[in-house]
Amino acid sequence: MAKASAPMCNGSRNLNLLVLLSCLEFMLPTDADSLCYSFTVGKSGSGPWWHQVQGQLNTETVIYCDSSNTCQANGILGNRLKATKTWETQADTLRDGVDLFKQQMVYMKQENNTIREPLTLQARMCCGHEVDGEFNGSWDFDLNGHKMFHVDSITGKWTEVEPGSRWMKEMWENNRDVTIFLKMTSRGDCRSWLEEIKPHWEEKLEPTASPIAPDVDQASSMAIKPNISVLLIILPYSILLWFLRRICDHEGTEGSVGSGVRDRKKE
Ligand SMILES: *[C@@H]1O[C@H](CO)[C@@H](O)[C@H](O)[C@H]1NC(C)=O
Ligand SMILES: *[C@@H]1O[C@H](CO)[C@@H](O)[C@H](O)[C@H]1NC(C)=O
Ligand SMILES: *[C@@H]1O[C@H](CO)[C@@H](O)[C@H](O)[C@H]1NC(C)=O
Repeated sequence: MAKASAPMCNGSRNLNLLVLLSCLEFMLPTDADSLCYSFTVGKSGSGPWWHQVQGQLNTETVIYCDSSNTCQANGILGNRLKATKTWETQADTLRDGVDLFKQQMVYMKQENNTIREPLTLQARMCCGHEVDGEFNGSWDFDLNGHKMFHVDSITGKWTEVEPGSRWMKEMWENNRDVTIFLKMTSRGDCRSWLEEIKPHWEEKLEPTASPIAPDVDQASSMAIKPNISVLLIILPYSILLWFLRRICDHEGTEGSVGSGVRDRKKE
């Protein structure tokens, strides 16, 4: 009889870990981390093209690039990111994006003479893990303040947002350089940059973090504070675990071989 229940006892350590992990998850901020990059490319009259790019982790700006084509680190997090090996490739990829979007705008103007200046294109890439752990990425494009189209990087689906945006969606969707760039950046680059920067964000949440940007730190520490509903979730698990422990310890002393908790001392 003791032998038959041994596998359950073996598994109880894993179960322990699982419960601990899910408890920790409840105590951490509930919003999943997301990394977003906003590209703005514009031109008015005879003036030159201008652009800016801003990268944000959880709405905190970490990288900023302007028309001089240099990218700067912003804040503590940005400076930490700058010290990593992805910094230069990230800045290069952002510049490639600017070039590609400018090219497309020039092409659009050639193809469609009803487009008037001033012209402003906004492209926004976001990626992150959903609360359920699924990876998600997307691109959104606005032209002169109109929401044109949305690209879901996981399904590869392009959708028009506001009426009258089909022409632009079709023009961009039929360009191979564009489709490849959008796919590679949101599925690949964004994901690896997020992996690179996430540990620094978690480090920042430690109470020893610098006092700069107090609003963010305050919000995070509030999110970490456990509340009564968290306790109500943890409590039944703890009781269940306590019972499992008792059963396993009991069987362990009866000589069931290979039990994961066999070596635990019985009181
Ligand atoms: C040209 O752009 C206008 C909006 O400025 C749009 O309504 C029209 O459908 C476009 N035409 C073509 C041929 O793409
Ligand atoms: C992630 O996917 C869901 C469902 O497909 C979607 O509603 C959500 O907006 C996506 N999030 C991002 C950041 O793209
Ligand atoms: C406690 O946390 C839950 C989610 O874990 C949340 O829905 C609820 O509003 C929080 N309650 C308080 C008082 O903060």
